[in-house]
Amino acid sequence: MQTGHVVIDPRFPVGVIDRRLFGSFVEHLGRCVYDGIYEPGHPAADEDGFRTDVLDLVRELGVTMVRYPGGNFVSGYRWEDGVGPRESRPRRLDLAWHSIETNEVGLDEFVSWSRKAGVDVMYAVNLGTRGLEEAVDVLEYANVRAGTALSDRRVANGAVEPHGIRMWCLGNEMDGDWQLGHWTAEEYAKKAVQTARAMLQLDPGLELVACGSSGAHIPTFGTWEQTVLRAGYDVVSHISCHAYYQEHDGDLASFLASAVDMDFFIESVAAMADAVKAERHSEKTIQISFDEWNVWYLDRYRNEERITDPELWPRAPRLLEDVYTVADAVVVGNLLISLLKHADRVTSASLAQLVNVIAPIMTEPGGPAWRQTTFFPFALTARLARGASLTTSVSAGTTETAQYGPVPLLDAVATHDEETGETALFLVNRHLGEAMAVTVDVSGFAPSTVSACESLHDADLRAVNDRENPDRVGLRANGTARIEGAVLRVELPAASWTAVSLSPVRA
Ligand code: AHR
Repeated sequence: MQTGHVVIDPRFPVGVIDRRLFGSFVEHLGRCVYDGIYEPGHPAADEDGFRTDVLDLVRELGVTMVRYPGGNFVSGYRWEDGVGPRESRPRRLDLAWHSIETNEVGLDEFVSWSRKAGVDVMYAVNLGTRGLEEAVDVLEYANVRAGTALSDRRVANGAVEPHGIRMWCLGNEMDGDWQLGHWTAEEYAKKAVQTARAMLQLDPGLELVACGSSGAHIPTFGTWEQTVLRAGYDVVSHISCHAYYQEHDGDLASFLASAVDMDFFIESVAAMADAVKAERHSEKTIQISFDEWNVWYLDRYRNEERITDPELWPRAPRLLEDVYTVADAVVVGNLLISLLKHADRVTSASLAQLVNVIAPIMTEPGGPAWRQTTFFPFALTARLARGASLTTSVSAGTTETAQYGPVPLLDAVATHDEETGETALFLVNRHLGEAMAVTVDVSGFAPSTVSACESLHDADLRAVNDRENPDRVGLRANGTARIEGAVLRVELPAASWTAVSLSPVRA
């Protein structure tokens, strides 16, 4: 058995956890919108065509904010197509995903869905094929109460209350050569800054997210961030990071260590933002919006055949429908640990995506909806991680990985809610074959008791939930957690993710 040691203390917070850390993403891609959140005619559909079984799962997942409408899709999107009478909305070619966009769902419908789901909307404007004017127009349409051409149009379309969208993405992945209207850093910086200034002229209270890099390993990483931030420091509040992880060629050890890469990504971008801050002698600190992250078997997608003839492009095809394993869920749990460890800088994040497309929730048209393995660590972390994240010192053995060299076998983060006194500890044992006995120094806390401890693990790391066996994988009670004096002891199964909740003992 491996051993590990953790020290936490409520007097040493990293930062208050912004609830937007538990965001997700709905793109007009595959079956995320159509046959995902929206399926009129489904037995569980409400009067607006939204699936109530999916809405229930979204609420259970604990998602707080949802990025919309893309993704690669947004770089060719005309938002006006998706508002007004449905019967006159155009069918368009979606060049990003070789699909037909019917525009049955647009901004007003999505906002109405978000209210039912109890989530905020983060809206991405098209800076690929369009620009400043379109961005200001959609902002006016969405947020101005009434009395102007576009706000009156929204009211006439039935959305009387303004949508009140506070957070806006200035385009999507504009650094990527796959992106429609891809720009160099200098070109993008100019366009994004002009757009941001115009949007802030309409509403100085907006939070604007500049596109950062689409991955920490793409050639422009670093110079892109510095160019964009030097130009836009005063007008943006956030810079984005996007990262997807997958197991390559059966290299499970590297895959389980994916959070090492996310730590590196976040810390590098924070350092670059702070370098620009120092150059400018600025008081302002740029935040990170990790607005696309997940496990995604991108290699599989790249190898799939594309339908080249646009006359044959389908509506809502089955795209990017990865079926997640236990190992994938352990990695997702660990990526959440990485986000929480950096709660002082990452104040917004979106699990990409929400339904059917690389998603924690799956649906069948006319049939059931179910939870993928990755649903569980997300839902439990969103529920338990309250208050501030704490400095979490970890000591354990290391393992050699092909991708990242030697990596710690244990990763962990604690959170503490001063108001309720509740503490949560999230841990990952990356050892593929051995359990780990962990001791946690909890002497800095008032006397506490273990109120719950659950782990995600399985003898079969490839086990999945699917339509036939929707409940094959789930959380399991971990009965090993106990407090002895000032020490919490817990055993972590091999290749597992665990959450421990501590409640104060009231006199
Ligand atoms: O989430 C799937 C795709 O990944 C998004 O459309 C794009 O932004 C990213 O490359």
